[in-house]
Amino acid sequence: MLKKINSLGEYFTEYKKSINDPEKFWEKQANSFCWQKKWEKVLNWDFEKPEIKWFEGGKLNITNNCLDRHLKKKNKKTAIKWIPNNPKEKTIDISYKDLHLKVCKFSNVLRSHQIKKGDRICIYMPMVPELVIAILACARIGAIHSVVFAGFSAKALADRINDASCNLLITSDGSFRGEKIIPLKAIADKAMQKTNSIKKCIVLKRTNTRVIMKKGRDLWWHNEIQHANSESSFEVMNSEDPLFILYTSGSTGKPKGIQHSIAGYMVYAEYSFRNVFQYNDGDIYWCTADIGWITGHSYIVYGPLLAGATTVMFEGIPTYPDPGRFWQIVQDNKINIFYTAPTAIRSLEAKGNSFVSPYDLSSLKVLGTVGEPINEDAWKWYYKEIGNEKCSIVDTWWQTETGGIMISNLANVTPHKPTYATLPLPGIQPCLVDQNGNEIKQDSIEGRLCIKFPWPSIARTIFGDHERYKKTYFTAFKNKYFTGDGCFRDKNGMYRITGRVDDILIVSGHNLGTAEIESAIDEHPKVCETAIVGFPHDIKGNGIYAFIICHHKLVNENLIRDEINELVSKTIGPIAKLDKIQFVSGLPKTRSGKIMRRILKKIAQGDTDNLGDTSTLLDPKIVDEIKLSSL
Ligand code: WTA
Repeated sequence: MLKKINSLGEYFTEYKKSINDPEKFWEKQANSFCWQKKWEKVLNWDFEKPEIKWFEGGKLNITNNCLDRHLKKKNKKTAIKWIPNNPKEKTIDISYKDLHLKVCKFSNVLRSHQIKKGDRICIYMPMVPELVIAILACARIGAIHSVVFAGFSAKALADRINDASCNLLITSDGSFRGEKIIPLKAIADKAMQKTNSIKKCIVLKRTNTRVIMKKGRDLWWHNEIQHANSESSFEVMNSEDPLFILYTSGSTGKPKGIQHSIAGYMVYAEYSFRNVFQYNDGDIYWCTADIGWITGHSYIVYGPLLAGATTVMFEGIPTYPDPGRFWQIVQDNKINIFYTAPTAIRSLEAKGNSFVSPYDLSSLKVLGTVGEPINEDAWKWYYKEIGNEKCSIVDTWWQTETGGIMISNLANVTPHKPTYATLPLPGIQPCLVDQNGNEIKQDSIEGRLCIKFPWPSIARTIFGDHERYKKTYFTAFKNKYFTGDGCFRDKNGMYRITGRVDDILIVSGHNLGTAEIESAIDEHPKVCETAIVGFPHDIKGNGIYAFIICHHKLVNENLIRDEINELVSKTIGPIAKLDKIQFVSGLPKTRSGKIMRRILKKIAQGDTDNLGDTSTLLDPKIVDEIKLSSL
């Protein structure tokens, strides 16, 4: 059985075991899965090359582990509980048996279009069950899925299709987001004009939006599955065959196609899911992420399904029909484990508690956050107002590249600490490194976060560009995977992620983390969210520019400016004094909620004519507003 840790003592024992003999440790976890052939070697690695292989020689299929192996005992159990955008539309429960059947049918549809092992399939879909079905159908026949978030533009979609030379695209007529309908097929059409590789496009009917179907290329999902065979044997795959590609932004403009392989990802996804969230059979688990991001891949789809869990999937947005929607869903579905992003927490906090208090949230046992550092104020609000001071908050630090959660407390088993991701999971060996690449051994100190030993779900390459993979992750520090994050370790060995080190500002010779200044400002009661960037300053080298969103419109801006500066001065020191404060109504964010500092930096520098591509932003209009009020 896959080991589920039950106490703090057990955590320390397991952690020790995982460090002393990683191969034995992971072999034990891997034994709980179904293999067509057992592996010959647990781990082969070389960070210099870099080359990492787990469970080599093993043969398996991940959908056999997500679906088939649960059919005996969990035939009728709900695998996916799907909640539509419109609260009046009915929730749909899909059992493990149904999901298996639907995946088998759709895998046969793919086969009927000559899709085979190793082909790349692009999936550009709303948050509907067919998205999960499409993903698993690819995995069943050994095709590599590349899910592109359905909020990306035609250009972004085309770039990703071209980079991986996908030969089939799966999309839908449209997508519901609150009151809006996004015409996905029309966007996909534009993207397909810019690509040559797509031979077929399968279109799901969801919004009844009018679409143009190109003869010979475009096919309706419902027609395709009508006569599809419901028996589908899975392709027997090698452990190190690729499972999926998922794009993430890099420091340059071109996105990186992060590639994960099957066996290691599978073992780590279930292991981390069970241990971090402490999932018990019967729990209802909801991760609000979009499947277009790694969090959705690992903790809506693979982790929960591997564990035989009930995973909730929500089509809509947190503010529709009103900002109480999340809490209403928690109440109506008796959610036990709830996993979301700090940005969602902060924005819902800003809407006020009147959207929370009408709902009974007593089913909640575990709350989680992911994606960015959570400031203390938001943490406390989440703990008190949502968790009623009874729920463990798991602050989970990880990355697209790590495949699964790396540093996090284990819910109700290891302690939480506001703003700290806390302790590494078993098998994860973090270390802090100084600018010269030397490992920092002492505690109560900040450094660059690296990982010095491979774990099963580490990305194996960047699709088509192994050199970039090597350069980005394995060259800054010898023999270590470099995360790109700054991190503080306290005297108890707990880790606190301080933000990307590429966001470090040197002001009058002092290093300042933008995240650190932001979190100080966020403590001001009137402040909702902040973004700090540097701009050239004659005397100090860099000046500090703050873009600040407040909860309400300010009556006396200058007074608040003074208060904020006093607060920063008090929290960090006079060195962090803000040179410019601009109050804004929103920030330029990517669809996954990350602030696009590149744009803010240009505005701060006064270089507003040359902002680059803003089309992938959540709300491109906000840039014009910020530009105007910065003048
Ligand atoms: C940041 C998301 C602080 C971090 C799963 C990392 C976090 C980047 C946390 C990866 C956290 C993620 N606390 N920062 N709990 N989780 N990050 O690839 O900077 O979208 O390097 O993966 O998000 O983002 P990605």
